[in-house]
Amino acid sequence: MSGQQVNTGKRRILSGVQPSGEAHLGNYLGAFRQWVDLQDTYDCLFCIVDQHAITGQYDPALLPQRIFDMAVSLLAVGLDPDRCSIFVQSEVQEHTELAWLFNAVTPVGELERMTQYKDKSSRLESIPAGLLNYPILQAADILIYRAQAVPVGEDQLQHLELTREIARKWNAQYGELFPEPQAIVGGTGRIMGLDGEAKMSKSLGNTVGILAEPEEVWSQVRTAVTDPQRIRKDDPGRPEVCNVYSLHEFFTDSSDLPDIAEQCRTAQRGCVDCKKILAENVAHEFEPFRDRAAHYRDRPEEVMEVLATGARQATVLAQETMAEVRRKMGMDWRKALT
Ligand code: AMP
Ligand code: TRP
Repeated sequence: MSGQQVNTGKRRILSGVQPSGEAHLGNYLGAFRQWVDLQDTYDCLFCIVDQHAITGQYDPALLPQRIFDMAVSLLAVGLDPDRCSIFVQSEVQEHTELAWLFNAVTPVGELERMTQYKDKSSRLESIPAGLLNYPILQAADILIYRAQAVPVGEDQLQHLELTREIARKWNAQYGELFPEPQAIVGGTGRIMGLDGEAKMSKSLGNTVGILAEPEEVWSQVRTAVTDPQRIRKDDPGRPEVCNVYSLHEFFTDSSDLPDIAEQCRTAQRGCVDCKKILAENVAHEFEPFRDRAAHYRDRPEEVMEVLATGARQATVLAQETMAEVRRKMGMDWRKALT
């Protein structure tokens, strides 16, 4: 039966991902790979954060498909709905209720200090309040399940620190309820995009999709920027500064790596051929993901059922927390007066 993860007594984790459609290599190496491993040791909740997505530019007409495609990606990489809950944030309405209540204990100064906020708001003439309040909703996502740990990329550590501060402040004011969640940081750090300039991100168009067919992987990888000093084919390259080489380190058999590096340094292999090997290895590693994705794309009702079950399981936990929160904050006034 799915749903066995509710109250198993294991430590609980929650993580979230934006509904950006099909996942990319950065999502996989930086996050999902680790989520798959954590399923065995923790009670796991994974949330597709559609209510966070509205704080940036987005097209409402495309959002449903992006949510669906992200769910397919999560299932394709090996999240197992019998061992974890996968759900869409807006289908558990308690998240936004708790976020509102957390407004009462969150200092505006802390929100204004967040790097992600400073970065995103600096490019805007008019800043939506949602961009500032984004980390409050993230804190609610985590604390509503009283999760003890949160697997995230390094870029999210600051938001997690603020989550702990919100937990502390709320507990101090209304009584002990929320644990202070710890970060579980995956080993990879951030994966650079194919442009070699910025982190791999859908909005920058510098990604390799994890569900791309081999030809598509090649057409993406062939655009990758390599060592800028290697202009002609027989210029010697520097694997240590080449983003293509750093991707080889994830996808190429470790026994083949010395050869890849040496052939680059001595210019015996050109960048195009080096990228071809990378593209083949990436496409090969993701073959099982493509197969699973094809299964789910042909059966959208199965994906919808997974998300509906996930939302039901999450709602049970969220409602337990909210009952406590409302009581401690003086909002179960009918009961209190009788
Ligand atoms: P997002 O798509 O921004 O919601 O990210 C979902 C998860 O993937 C988060 O845990 C991120 O830290 C991780 N992630 C996204 N892009 C990258 C990247 N380029 N390198 C490493 N991790 C990433
Ligand atoms: N802000 C996170 C990101 O951009 C996504 C997210 C939302 C999240 N809620 C979360 C991550 C809760 C971890 C826990 O990657």
